Amino acid sequence: MLLALLLLLLLPPLVAASHELGAACAPAKCGNLTIRYPFWLLGRHPPYCGYPSLGVSCDPAAPSLNNSSLRVLGIDYGNRSLAAFHAKLAEDATACSATTFNVSATLALPLLAVSRANWALILCTNCSRTAPAGSLPVTCPGSGGAWNVYMGRRYESGGPFVQGMAPVGCKYSVVPMMPGSELGKLDDYPGLVRRGFLMEWTVAGDCAACNKSGGQCRYDDGFKCLCPDGRLHSATCARGEFFHYD
Ligand SMILES: *[C@@H]1O[C@H](CO)[C@@H](O)[C@H](O)[C@H]1NC(C)=O
Ligand SMILES: *[C@@H]1O[C@H](CO)[C@@H](O)[C@H](O)[C@H]1NC(C)=O
Ligand SMILES: *[C@@H]1O[C@H](CO)[C@@H](O)[C@H](O)[C@H]1NC(C)=O
Ligand SMILES: *[C@@H]1O[C@H](CO)[C@@H](O)[C@H](O)[C@H]1NC(C)=O
Ligand SMILES: *[C@@H]1O[C@H](CO)[C@@H](O)[C@H](O)[C@H]1NC(C)=O
Ligand SMILES: *[C@@H]1O[C@H](CO)[C@@H](O)[C@H](O)[C@H]1NC(C)=O
Ligand SMILES: *[C@@H]1O[C@H](CO)[C@@H](O)[C@H](O)[C@H]1NC(C)=O
Repeated sequence: MLLALLLLLLLPPLVAASHELGAACAPAKCGNLTIRYPFWLLGRHPPYCGYPSLGVSCDPAAPSLNNSSLRVLGIDYGNRSLAAFHAKLAEDATACSATTFNVSATLALPLLAVSRANWALILCTNCSRTAPAGSLPVTCPGSGGAWNVYMGRRYESGGPFVQGMAPVGCKYSVVPMMPGSELGKLDDYPGLVRRGFLMEWTVAGDCAACNKSGGQCRYDDGFKCLCPDGRLHSATCARGEFFHYD
């Protein structure tokens, strides 16, 4: 017992004054979204409530990720995915902006990957063979003229695509779309963009295990578990677990 007390006294202060178990990081609402770890609500939560790149700016009409053009439509904490759409693409009624807009480059966001569950809107031009059946012609004056646009039922970042879907010999551009999106006519395009697409996040640490052990998940140079003892643990609040400085 005495030894334990001594150890406690000798240990460096493990917890920043700003950390306390309590309501600081309680789930917060933004429109119909519930924001909690690993996300945090800018202006409402302290930054230690989530990962720096997963801050949500709450313009209730259009919550965005870190005040970017990525508008958040929904967050599913169960399967770690979020639905979002890109405001720049939604501004264009014709799909032509997608011919010059490199989605995979623009969406190179930390911790988030465009889900392979998405479907893909494919725009192609100058093909060495005829465009796939069912594709719609679209004229994009700023991008060389005649393009064809069609929906592929699979998204692969950067392409190329599964057999039969590949726009062989073409110049092409791909936009992820919510699974189940159908492009019947070009007028459908803006609505489809606003339905968004899926992204999946991967963060270190097992938040559920931390929480189950009585802790709350925090970000402090990586995942930490804030425990009833007021300390940041590396994984859970299980007894005997020590926090290690990296
Ligand atoms: C949440 O609100 C947005 C925009 O107001 C809407 O597009 C979306 O479908 C809503 N999500 C749910 C789950 O109600
Ligand atoms: C958030 O956005 C600002 C301004 O665009 C940018 O400088 C910053 O790097 C972004 N932060 C993260 C963590 O993505
Ligand atoms: C978000 O971005 C807009 C325009 O890009 C800017 O006017 C606004 O001040 C930003 N808000 C925050 C909280 O950074
Ligand atoms: C996660 O679950 C939601 C609700 O069941 C579903 O709509 C979404 O497609 C799932 N996300 C992924 C990436 O499978
Ligand atoms: C789009 O961006 C990705 C990632 O940065 C890159 O690998 C790819 O070559 C780019 N595609 C085009 C057509 O520029
Ligand atoms: C397609 O080919 C035509 C004629 O060679 C050219 O003018 C046009 O720029 C090409 N389109 C693209 C997007 O490269
Ligand atoms: C953890 O558990 C508490 C209740 O003990 C709950 O309020 C909180 O929302 C849970 N989730 C996180 C991410 O901390």
